[in-house]
Amino acid sequence: MKKILVTGGCGYIGSHTIVDLVQHGYEVISIDNNSRSSSRILEGVERIVGKSIKNYKVDLCNYDDTYAVIQENADLAGIIHFAAYKSVGESVEQPLLYFENNLLSLINLLKCVDEFKIPHFVFSSSCTVYGNPDIIPVTEETPPKPAESPYGYTKQMGEQIVSETIKHSVSTAILLRYFNPVGAHPSGLIGELPVGKPQNLVPAITQTAIGKIQQLTVFGTDYPTRDGSCVRDFIHVCDLAHAHTLALDYLISLKNFSPCEVYNLGTGNGVTVLEAIHAFERVSGQKLNYQLGPRRAGDVVAIYANNDKARDFLGWEANFSLDEMMKTAWQWEQNIRSDEDFYATQKGELN
Ligand code: WQD
Repeated sequence: MKKILVTGGCGYIGSHTIVDLVQHGYEVISIDNNSRSSSRILEGVERIVGKSIKNYKVDLCNYDDTYAVIQENADLAGIIHFAAYKSVGESVEQPLLYFENNLLSLINLLKCVDEFKIPHFVFSSSCTVYGNPDIIPVTEETPPKPAESPYGYTKQMGEQIVSETIKHSVSTAILLRYFNPVGAHPSGLIGELPVGKPQNLVPAITQTAIGKIQQLTVFGTDYPTRDGSCVRDFIHVCDLAHAHTLALDYLISLKNFSPCEVYNLGTGNGVTVLEAIHAFERVSGQKLNYQLGPRRAGDVVAIYANNDKARDFLGWEANFSLDEMMKTAWQWEQNIRSDEDFYATQKGELN
């Protein structure tokens, strides 16, 4: 059984990817220092897959500690690197925190990939590398534009670091550019656990609906779009997770045509913020308390993916509908309402 290291395995996309990997025959270990996640999430993962998942509570910015974990698992077939800070707003307030955490952790990992000749590396990137695209949908050949935030720069720089490093190694890599990950595993046992007040739209919707937030603000309804609100490509986290399994399968079976390839992971459907809110109201059967407010600095007006490449080369497609994204997100929000430990995470009181 091939063993895979998932960094950030207690995080939102990491935990869902562990489920998909195990269900497709991989053995998985995790590194997560739980600085922005709860180790309780792995309990949900273990209930879904029916086996225990080992997490090394290690800070990837500590090279010696990272080296020791990889040395102990030198038989790794691949690494999927999720662990990073991802708040656009926080990165604007604390750029050095983001450059140090997101880039040093990546560099330490890549040093270990080289040292132990780990065959394959999958990097968690983001559509944010495209900035405000002139033409949509964006393809992987759409030229990146200046990022809108230090977070976005860490993804652009991260892609360059992986690409340049892998070229001179015996390993192969894939860069996965996520659009907007939303929703939760249909079991209701794992999902997104934003720390503190959620910045992202869907957790802000579900927390408003459940009463944790008093009222949602729609950031801008004067954009040049069909209803004035921003357009995004929302993708269910389980569809996103499966793409990582397919990316590893692809690299392990040596189907890649270059040492480092890049793929968009979006549904190809542009949905406005107001349409997303109305989908939630339809699915939940309840009216959402929201107001129309001013634009949010740094927001991209409209972006959605051309995902032909992931379909043609990875054999990937998005299966979950927008309604299913909202339904699973709402189910998860209701499930954690009574769980104080998860609430502590959301209030930022991490263990
Ligand atoms: C989406 C739309 C907001 C909250 C960022 C990163 C991206 C990825 C996902 C990590 C925007 C509007 C939001 C609210 C609102 N990060 N909104 N009221 O900014 O598209 O993408 O998060 O994986 O890399 O760039 O996502 O969910 O924050 O915003 O109106 O309370 O919802 O203005 O138009 P974004 P988002």
